[in-house]
Amino acid sequence: MDKTLALNEKVKKLLYGLTGITLSNNKDIMISNRLYKLQRDTKFVGTIDDLLDQIEEGEYINEFINSFTTNKTHFFREDFHFIDLKQRVIPEFLEKNGSGAELKMYCSASSTGEEPYSMAMTVKEAEEELNRTIKSSIIATDIDTNVLQYAADGIYRFSKSAKEFPDWVKPQKYFKRRVVQNIGNEEVLIKVKDELKRMISFQKMNLNDASYPFKDNQFDVIFCRNVLIYFSAEDQNLILKKLFRHLKIGGTLYIGHSENPHDLIHYVQKAGQNTFVKIKEI
Ligand SMILES: C[S@@+](CC[C@H](N)C(=O)[O-])C[C@H]1O[C@@H](n2cnc3c(N)ncnc32)[C@H](O)[C@@H]1O
Repeated sequence: MDKTLALNEKVKKLLYGLTGITLSNNKDIMISNRLYKLQRDTKFVGTIDDLLDQIEEGEYINEFINSFTTNKTHFFREDFHFIDLKQRVIPEFLEKNGSGAELKMYCSASSTGEEPYSMAMTVKEAEEELNRTIKSSIIATDIDTNVLQYAADGIYRFSKSAKEFPDWVKPQKYFKRRVVQNIGNEEVLIKVKDELKRMISFQKMNLNDASYPFKDNQFDVIFCRNVLIYFSAEDQNLILKKLFRHLKIGGTLYIGHSENPHDLIHYVQKAGQNTFVKIKEI
């Protein structure tokens, strides 16, 4: 076997074992680029082959995982899910459970934080619209330790983020603005206010683990969006089934635009685009 091909096969096997992520065959150039970057970032003295041997032996695991995840996200991505949360889920939850109850939400691949912060802003906007206080909590997890740190810091570039807020959200309520000088250019950074940060707990978790550290029927809402695409169809089905036990009957599962609910389809009712309400246990 060609040497590059052998290296790439080794990476795929390691990555699959550690994360469940399946890299397709057309990713060979991407794999080489990320391996060289990993070698530079870790300042590893030795060949890429040696580095992979070390990873196999348990060294540089986080660095390896972090360099092979794809973290693309933005505020209010697929905003119809946040509209559904505000217009259907929250009013129905309050109607059924009363004001004292806590709306428990889980964001299962939170990347750099834009998705869980969008969930939190949606709750705040619903509070204003309904003119009542909503008790809520959000657990946000990812396997990538770099993006978890980024999310916990909560600092974003405004030029990019400005376009991302739908007109029913007032970002000035949730962010502090800071102008920084960047090689002669002015750049506006926005920092999430503490009130929003306090609504979210960020934790490291691997969706490929055999089980998850939550109670059965713990959550009213689960976001699992644009992460299933990185797994094989069989593993997507397994992950969805594991997540499903932690969703309450009547709770809502949101998945990404190109993802499907696999076997869960028999246990849910469709409530909108890639929006599913749990109607029975598996
Ligand atoms: C493309 S981002 C999606 C972010 C967000 N959910 C969205 O829809 O915008 C995919 C995220 O899944 C995370 N991820 C990949 N494999 C994972 C695993 N096995 N367990 C937990 N998170 C994983 C990556 O680190 C990355 O941050």
